[in-house]
Amino acid sequence: EKGNFRHFMQKEIYDQPTVVAQTLQSYVRRDDESVALPQIDFDLSAIKRVTIVACGTSFYAGLVAKYWFEHFARLPVDIDVASEFRYRDPVLEPGGLAIFISQSGETADTLAALRHCKANGQTIAVVVNVPTSSMAREADLLLPTHAGPEIGVASTKAFTCQLAVLAALAAHLAVKRGRMTRDDEREVVRNLIETPAALNAALAYDDAIAAMAHLIAPARDVLYLGRGQDYPLALEGALKLKEISYIHAEGYASGEMKHGPIALIDEHVPVIVIAPSGPLFEKTVSNMQEVRARGGKIVLISDAEGLAEAGEGCMATIEMPQVHPLIAPLVYAVPVQLLAYHVACVKGTDVDQPRNLAKSVTVE
Ligand code: F6R
Repeated sequence: EKGNFRHFMQKEIYDQPTVVAQTLQSYVRRDDESVALPQIDFDLSAIKRVTIVACGTSFYAGLVAKYWFEHFARLPVDIDVASEFRYRDPVLEPGGLAIFISQSGETADTLAALRHCKANGQTIAVVVNVPTSSMAREADLLLPTHAGPEIGVASTKAFTCQLAVLAALAAHLAVKRGRMTRDDEREVVRNLIETPAALNAALAYDDAIAAMAHLIAPARDVLYLGRGQDYPLALEGALKLKEISYIHAEGYASGEMKHGPIALIDEHVPVIVIAPSGPLFEKTVSNMQEVRARGGKIVLISDAEGLAEAGEGCMATIEMPQVHPLIAPLVYAVPVQLLAYHVACVKGTDVDQPRNLAKSVTVE
C-alpha cells in the first residue's frame, strides 16, 4: 500500500528510519551496547580474507563495506560484480569468507557466484531481504535485512538496511579479531542506534531537494563525485538518476575526475559532490575548485561544517546532520535517493516501473 505517497519509491525512502531500526534490532544489543549477530556455529576470528559479490545497488553496499572491513577489522577484501566474478577464475583460498548481498536473494549471477564459492571451500554469508530466497537457503551464515517488501524497481530501503547489517558485521569481525576495543564497540553501537534519527533528519530536507530538482532535470549528463566510503554513494547516486530519470549520469572517485571526466565539464553538466566534513574534505574542495574553474555547476551535499567551508559558489547545497563516519553512508543515501526521485517526478517518468528494468534479474 502506498498510503499518502505518490509512488512506492517515495514511500520506501520514507520507510528507511523504521526498517533500518527494525533491521538493527537483530544486530545490536541495547542493554550492553554490543554487536550481536544471529547464531553462528563457526569461528569468525579465523577468517583470513573476505570476498564480496553482488550486482547493482547491492554491489555498491558491498563497496562501502569494503572500506569498513579493511579499516575496522583489518581484513583484506576482494570485491566484484557477480557477472564478472563468476567468469574470471578468482583465487579462493581456504579460510575465506564470501559475502553475497542481494535484496531478492534470486539474482542469477550472484547465486551462481555463491555456488562457485561454496564449491571452492568458502564460508558463505548472505545479506538478503527475502528470507525464503535461494541465497538464504544456501547460506552458512544468514544475515537478513528486515526492509520489508520492496516494490519500487529502484532499490532504496534495501540498500540502507544492507549497509546497517554490513556495519554491524564489520564491527563484529573487528571485535573477534581483537581489532576493536570494548569502548569502540560501544561507540559503534551507540552510533548505529542513532541512525534512524539521523535518517529522519536527512528526510527533513525533502522539500529543499524537491525545490532544486528543476536545476538538474534539463541536464543531459550529470556527474557524481565522492571520496573514500562516499565514492560508492556517488556510483549509487548516478545509478539511481539514470534508472528513473533516464539522464545520463556517472559516478567517479573525486580524485579520479582530473584523469578524464573533467573533459566533460561545462556549464551544462551539474556535478553532485557527496562530501561530509572530515580528514578528506580538503581534497574534495580542491576537486570542486577544478570543476568551478571550468564553469561546472556544483550541488554540494555535506554537513554544516562542510557547507560553511565550501558551500559558497555552489549552485545548490543540501545540509545533512553531522554524523559519525560509520553511519554517514546510510544518511547520505537519503538525499541521493530523493534527488533522483524528484528529478524523475519533474521529468514525469514512471518512477516505480522504469523502462527496460525488472525488479529481480533471474536471467544471466
Ligand atoms: C538498482 C537496483 C538493481 C539491483 C540489482 C541487484 O536500483 O535495484 O541494481 O540492486 O539488480 O538486485 P538484488 O539486490 O535483488 O540482487
